[in-house]
Amino acid sequence: MKILVTGGAGYIGSHTCVELLEAGWEVVVADNYSNSVPAVLDRVEAITGKTLQRYEADIRDRSAMDRIFEENEIQAVIHFAGLKAVGESTRIPLAYYENNVYGSVVLFESMAAHGCKNIVFSSSATVYGNNPIPYEETMPVGDVSSPYGRTKYFIEEILGDLYRSDPDWSISLLRYFNPIGAHESGLIGEDPNGIPNNLMPYISRVAIGKLPLLTVFGGDYDTKDGTCIRDYIHVVDLAKAHVCAVRKLMDGSGLQAYNIGNGKGYSVLDIIHAFEKASGVKLSYVIGDRRPGDLPAFYADASKANRELGWCAALDIDKMCLDTWNFQTKNPDGIH
Ligand code: NAD
Ligand code: WQD
Repeated sequence: MKILVTGGAGYIGSHTCVELLEAGWEVVVADNYSNSVPAVLDRVEAITGKTLQRYEADIRDRSAMDRIFEENEIQAVIHFAGLKAVGESTRIPLAYYENNVYGSVVLFESMAAHGCKNIVFSSSATVYGNNPIPYEETMPVGDVSSPYGRTKYFIEEILGDLYRSDPDWSISLLRYFNPIGAHESGLIGEDPNGIPNNLMPYISRVAIGKLPLLTVFGGDYDTKDGTCIRDYIHVVDLAKAHVCAVRKLMDGSGLQAYNIGNGKGYSVLDIIHAFEKASGVKLSYVIGDRRPGDLPAFYADASKANRELGWCAALDIDKMCLDTWNFQTKNPDGIH
């Protein structure tokens, strides 16, 4: 049983490849390595002791996608490939629409042409915008604050239209909250190029001395300590959710959205303190201005994934920090 993983060399994709291989699936990766390196896949193989098949391929390239389906009997696709930097998407929105939305359409066309109608799509909690917490799947989506977030919303809508046009499709929209952490081997983890945008990789680079200081974006929110609240989820828990979602697709589950989060909210200061405890390093930080577009607080109601996929998050915030630090110290210069 073969699964095509687009973007499989990336942060979440690589952890998902590990879980798929360990669960006994055959894995085919398509990645253009625009935000990753092939060595990550060597590490996936080292962790699992299994091999995967790889294509250096761009999802926007229809003939490259067709070739993969022609050379492999693919049962389902897990679609991670995409650009993901929120700030960058406000500066170069067309690149985001072209890569994420157009690329997804090309992929779906190729799937349809080859009769593969099972897909798990990497969506995001960002599609909910400003809603009451905890976020539930039945809440309205689309009030999104960035072009990046809108690409996720549009792709969800495209998949919805596809399903309504042909109910033979089985589509799982996984709305991730804030993935952090790394595989406990320390071989794979989050390895952003340049200065990180997200909290955890930033903290980790401050802790190892590659960045001087963390700025906490806002200390005057109406939250328990004035800093923003998010739902952090260990990337290995998130990866396991994909294995559960793929299994469910095989039952012909139709079109479903699932929140994939811990269901717990942690503040920025909670994360800083947990990281200090896990690493033994005192972090230098200052409280700065709010970051435009940040919501004060959100976290998931993940009970639907628990009920229908049999999945729930198992790893706590201490483990997330410990594994992040382990990856950082074992790979001070990233993965080459
Ligand atoms: P990542 O950048 O580490 O992984 C994405 C992978 O896709 C990379 O290996 C990149 O080289 C590849 N890629 C990009 N465009 C491609 C294209 N046109 N063709 C082929 N490969 C391409 O990102 P990630 O953090 O692993 O995120 C994976 C997915 O999950 C993305 O779609 C992202 O938007 C979504 N997501 C991420 C987060 C998060 O916080 N990391 C949260 C919610 C949703
Ligand atoms: C977390 C908290 C910041 C950096 C983003 C995307 C979202 C999803 C996950 C893809 C916030 C604070 C951060 C820093 C800080 N990705 N922070 N100093 O913004 O919740 O979500 O990643 O789909 O779409 O928007 O994550 O890690 O950037 O921020 O104080 O240097 O940390 O204000 O409260 P965010 P984040």
